[in-house]
Amino acid sequence: MTTTAQLPRVTSRKATPVKSMNDRDLVSITDFTPEEIASALDLATAMKARPADFRSALSGKQLVLFFEKPSLRTRLTFESGICSLGGVSFFVDQTASRLGDREPLDDMAHNLERWVDGIVLRTFSHETGSIMAQHSSIPVINALSDFEHPCQAMADILTLKEQFGSLKKVKIAYVGDGNNVAHSLMLAAVSVGAHIVLGTPEQHKPSAAVMKTAQKIAKQTGGQIEWTADPVAAVTGVNAVYTDVWASMGKESEAAQRKLEFAPYQVNQKLMSYATKGAIFMHCLPAHRGDEVTADVIDSAASVVFDQAENRLHAQKAILFMLLGGSSRFPSRSAHA
Ligand code: CP
Ligand code: NVA
Repeated sequence: MTTTAQLPRVTSRKATPVKSMNDRDLVSITDFTPEEIASALDLATAMKARPADFRSALSGKQLVLFFEKPSLRTRLTFESGICSLGGVSFFVDQTASRLGDREPLDDMAHNLERWVDGIVLRTFSHETGSIMAQHSSIPVINALSDFEHPCQAMADILTLKEQFGSLKKVKIAYVGDGNNVAHSLMLAAVSVGAHIVLGTPEQHKPSAAVMKTAQKIAKQTGGQIEWTADPVAAVTGVNAVYTDVWASMGKESEAAQRKLEFAPYQVNQKLMSYATKGAIFMHCLPAHRGDEVTADVIDSAASVVFDQAENRLHAQKAILFMLLGGSSRFPSRSAHA
């Protein structure tokens, strides 16, 4: 059994980078430029308003979904989204073993590219998605890894846009674990010019490399990013307070220790009172009431968690359309050099 610490297996044989000029991936949210994120949001809004106009966007296209971890929202919004765009999906329950255990990832990639048009992966190791993308000629979409959750971030930014219109003046606080959801959210937030404050314990800080990338993007877009270990400082004066579970999938054995470490970061009415009046509450779900958020916050009128969940569908349909849809394909990778 592979552990999360081990890297996925590849053959020693050097694989040819065979991705065609028009094939792109979404392994990290930074695989989309700020302009492409803006286009995806506009497209998602159009698809949400007029789903019937896009019924055959993926006609004749087939995608395979491999999930190493459980899922409600991601699996169903991908399968439903692909179906509503006229495509076909094949779901592979990969929870019993890790991708790459049975055969090298590059061999898998070279098989899949002969059969289907796209690959959707939910993995433990982020490397699994990167390697699959590197070795396959078809788009690879990250449906959550230990390091990023780009499709969630796209839906979250769409939700913020619906709530606030322009995102340039929106200030978001993310409090809790600085891992996958936080990483993609902060990168997406600065890409649209928003201001995000991360409030996490020192030992669960976001990756320094991701912070650095976010700062670089913020410089181009006018966004801002800050980190603090103080949850009250993080939420003071913000328009949206976001949290996620304290023990992510794969970290369940650390749940008791994490409960102690994250207790001061619980989003409750007291913490929400430091945000601006009318601030919204956000969560990617699934949520644990009484841990990272109290029931009186997540079940209050301030909560937009089910809008976020709905927007997973619309945001992913836009992503699928941009990566795989008929004539509206992305510019090539070289356009982003
Ligand atoms: N938010 C999210 O990714 O939910 P699932 O784990 O249910 O897919
Ligand atoms: N951080 C959480 C997100 C679940 C959607 C996890 O990785 O389990």
